[in-house]
Amino acid sequence: MKEVVLSGIRSTGHLHLGNYFGALRNFVQMQHEYRCYFFVADWHSLTTHPTPEDHQGNVRTVISEYLACGIDPDVATLYVQSDVPEIAELYLLLNMNAYVGELERTTTFKEKVRKQPENVNAGLLTYPVLMAADIIIHKANKVPVGKDQEQNLEMARKFAKRFNRIYGVDFFIEPKGYSFSGKLIKIPGLDGSGKMGKSEGNALNLADDPEVIRQKVMRAVTDAGPTHENQTPPEPIQNLFQLMEVASQPDVIAYYRKQYAECKIRYGEMKSQLADDLIRLTAPIRERITDIQGDEEYLRKIVRQGAEKARESASKTLREVKEIMGFKPF
Ligand code: TRP
Repeated sequence: MKEVVLSGIRSTGHLHLGNYFGALRNFVQMQHEYRCYFFVADWHSLTTHPTPEDHQGNVRTVISEYLACGIDPDVATLYVQSDVPEIAELYLLLNMNAYVGELERTTTFKEKVRKQPENVNAGLLTYPVLMAADIIIHKANKVPVGKDQEQNLEMARKFAKRFNRIYGVDFFIEPKGYSFSGKLIKIPGLDGSGKMGKSEGNALNLADDPEVIRQKVMRAVTDAGPTHENQTPPEPIQNLFQLMEVASQPDVIAYYRKQYAECKIRYGEMKSQLADDLIRLTAPIRERITDIQGDEEYLRKIVRQGAEKARESASKTLREVKEIMGFKPF
């Protein structure tokens, strides 16, 4: 029996280069080794983005971008969360064994209370319960998540264990994190510090047009230049070199490193080269995104097929859960 990998992404924006090198590129390989579930967490997006006019488009964007990165819907199960009502039902049931106190203490909740004090909805509070339902409904045991989601995954483990304890069963397995470790390439942002992230406004999206990529790269933070030979570049310049490492040819990188070491670097020229290389790197993905986005019929077929596969697994788990909890047909 293959191990089960699961990952979800909220439909609140575009996938960026950091998502690609941090996760998607690895998923493409993993889909052949494991039973993989990839989905668009559109219910989760309602906790922060309750905008009906954008909903469908956002979901479509993320599905198209997953596909363009190389997720094969005939191999992995690629679906939209809201197409699987079994998840909502399991979420309802799990809520009965989730405590308000522990939910209020999660850091992601406290952060959201700070960020959107005008909209502290119950969905934000129970966000970890819905995420637990996403995961355990397919009995996933490998869940690749970033640092910011580790606590939510810990909660999922807690809910799974608690279910087993309360009902005296050995039903849910504990979902573990999954680290790409060696295979992980960290992509820095363009604002001089930290990693690329969609909420940071420092990201290069996979769907960005060449002109947009060029603009963003040309505006990336730099400094006044090295003051003495062979100096270690500060973070903003390190970041540009790091982006070159993924996008540029070795001789190009060596050339600019030498220019820097000899204090002859011209950042404008380096960024222009970097922009060219990033545009070349992302072009095939961008083209696939455009093609897929334009193919209504293909998208409809993929989403329908994904929902069907996901519901097959989800309904089996839900049926067993209800039986364990004492629901019996009359
Ligand atoms: N909370 C995750 C995020 O914001 C998205 C998500 C929802 C998820 N359900 C999940 C991730 C289940 C992994 C597993 O990134």
